[in-house]
Amino acid sequence: MEIIIAKNAGFCFGVSKAVNLLFDLLENTNEKLYTVGPIIHNDQVVEKLKSKGVQVVNDISEVENDGQVVIRTHGVTPEVYEKINGSGLKYSDATCPYVKKIHNLVNEKYKEGYQIVIIGDKEHQEVKGINGWCDDTASIVYSEDDVKSMNADNKNICVVAQTTITKEKWETINNFLNKKFENILKFDTICSATSNRQNEAECVAKNVDAMVVIGGKNSSNTQKLYEICKKYCSKTYQIETSGDLPPMDIKNIKKIGITAGASTPDWVIKEVISKMEELNKANEMSFKEAFESSL
Ligand code: F3S
Repeated sequence: MEIIIAKNAGFCFGVSKAVNLLFDLLENTNEKLYTVGPIIHNDQVVEKLKSKGVQVVNDISEVENDGQVVIRTHGVTPEVYEKINGSGLKYSDATCPYVKKIHNLVNEKYKEGYQIVIIGDKEHQEVKGINGWCDDTASIVYSEDDVKSMNADNKNICVVAQTTITKEKWETINNFLNKKFENILKFDTICSATSNRQNEAECVAKNVDAMVVIGGKNSSNTQKLYEICKKYCSKTYQIETSGDLPPMDIKNIKKIGITAGASTPDWVIKEVISKMEELNKANEMSFKEAFESSL
């Protein structure tokens, strides 16, 4: 069995920056560290940080006075910054710079009078955060019905994307918007790390007998990777850790592909590869080498 590992599997730039920031703080400060909501959508990383003392809280009011808050990668609303500043707490901002760029853009266009439209999942923290930068007035759309229910009187609309949606979703929703609105200002804010990863996963999925997508169950970009791979490879499995690997008929799988979401750490990917090596001892190829050469 040949194993093919999609390029750029695992931590993206924004996640890597956030996790490194927390580990640096853990080494260099004695203050108690808090994140409001999980720093990234990966339980293994959150648990590891927790074991080192980083607490996840739901609200700033739960943070002790001598603590320091780290703002999550997905970003937050201006109200959260106001609350932190109002309480006099120290904070470090781990918002991904690409998400921060969307906050600034949305805020600027909202002030210019545009109706902001976010193509994305209204329940996702990133989208909630972006919406806060236009006073929670954005139309959040993800389907044709969502577009249909928008107020057609809006003259000027400004469209942005949740960073992890697919290009296909961006184009489909924009086609619906084009039919309904005349003046549309569009900013394709899909993160290139996301689209590159999705393209690479698609290429691999088209050429394998089975595909394994590694990532958190609540990770939006991992879910999208799963959907893309499933479209081209019916035997696609989404797992969080090596322990979730399903029973596979390895003898009948000539090629197997692996990809991983942006918040999946290397150590989890390596564990999955090691488990596969155990399952496929007869294979001549070193999966670890394949993974390392793909980085
Ligand atoms: Fe940022 Fe893109 Fe990662 S938006 S958090 S670099 S997927």
